[in-house]
Amino acid sequence: TKQKLWGGRFTGKTDPLMHEFNQSLKYDKRMYDADIRGSIAYSKALTLVGILTEDEEIKIVNGLEAVKKEWDDGVFQVQPDDEDIHTANERRLTELIGPLGGKLHTGRSRNDQVATDMRLWLMKEAREVEIALEALIQVIVNRADKERDILMPGYTHLQRGQPVRWSHLILSHAFYFAADLQRLRELIPRISVLPLGSGALAGNAFVVDREFLAKELGFDSISENSFHGIGDRDFIVEFMMWASLTMGHLSRISEDLIIYSTAEFGFVTLSDAYSTGSSMMPQKKNPDSLELLRGKSGRVFGNMSGFMMTYKGIPSTYNKDLQEDKEPLFDTVDNVWASLRIAEGVIATLEVHADKMRKALTMDMLATDLADYLVRKGIPFRETHHISGRAVALAESRKCQLHELSLEDYKGLSDKFTEDVHGVFDFEASVEKRRAIGGPALQMIDRQVETLQAILNR
Ligand code: ARG
Repeated sequence: TKQKLWGGRFTGKTDPLMHEFNQSLKYDKRMYDADIRGSIAYSKALTLVGILTEDEEIKIVNGLEAVKKEWDDGVFQVQPDDEDIHTANERRLTELIGPLGGKLHTGRSRNDQVATDMRLWLMKEAREVEIALEALIQVIVNRADKERDILMPGYTHLQRGQPVRWSHLILSHAFYFAADLQRLRELIPRISVLPLGSGALAGNAFVVDREFLAKELGFDSISENSFHGIGDRDFIVEFMMWASLTMGHLSRISEDLIIYSTAEFGFVTLSDAYSTGSSMMPQKKNPDSLELLRGKSGRVFGNMSGFMMTYKGIPSTYNKDLQEDKEPLFDTVDNVWASLRIAEGVIATLEVHADKMRKALTMDMLATDLADYLVRKGIPFRETHHISGRAVALAESRKCQLHELSLEDYKGLSDKFTEDVHGVFDFEASVEKRRAIGGPALQMIDRQVETLQAILNR
């Protein structure tokens, strides 16, 4: 009967449920490539300190590559006693090359190994997530650039506020995502810290060259304390915090588009590719993609907060609680990546109804401009706000719009009104007045597009 890797000091059997409870292979096997890359680098480091001969190193590296190929080809045979990806790979290596395989783990522990694997795995995945995020921002920027002539109501409290450009709205979301992109780029160096060479807890007695290991594996830096090296999962928490915030931003743009896609608004139509129907109501076309984006933000936040609970009370160094970092991280990476791709697709294929947006503009949305008109004639804004409010009330009582009031009506409210008041009632002109940096005027749309493009091209 086969022995567990750590079975030497054991005489009793593991409870079958405990065996299952302890086993992480079903999910951590997705790190097989990182695990094998780490082992190949480590075998080279062992050769450099004379633990392996060059010939032994070659045999081990070839063996590891054969194991990797089995995983790649989907033919790796998992054995019941394979506890996790590290034990599985070592067991298989030893089957392939014999007892020599047992030299690989000299001075190494699964504690520094798993911390290394997680970082290597996440470094690669974070790059994929970054690419997906860049693509999403690019799609928004491209649309905003093209659709700059479309005017729509801008809302606060979901109440009509002032006219803006459609581009201004979607660029606002792009700026949230651009901040996410910058944060992601900033946190990647904190993932890229090598723990290998920390041993089980007290460092490496064979004095492997950790600088060499870092270089081999593409790490930016090296952990400076072995306890910290094996016990630190901050990079996982930080990535999940990042993902939670990013998903929150996806949720907010989704909410905008869900509302704008209702018949009541009718500003946008989702393409069929990102909608689903109802099993009962034949007419329905539901924005499920956007609802899932909104819903999954809760799940990703839950992954983060769940692992935070696990992480906070653990004693120093490695404790098995830390194995609980994997499922939430993997789930987070899968969902944030998929969400970014879905959002990109939704926005790339969205139909925008410029006519509906234009029709939703009403003259009362220029009441601020009316107040501003009197400000330019020297009246303090507090008074002009009041006068403009009275014009709105008057129009309301006459069941007409602001521009339909006569010059006499206006003169009745303030003697500063003259013929040119009718120039106020022009949505385009109103938007173009707002050309301070950050505004929706055309030249500021240009500026926003340029700023975002520079972040993307960095
Ligand atoms: N499967 C373990 C994990 O994911 C690997 C480390 C196990 N180390 C140990 N001393 N039990 O955390």
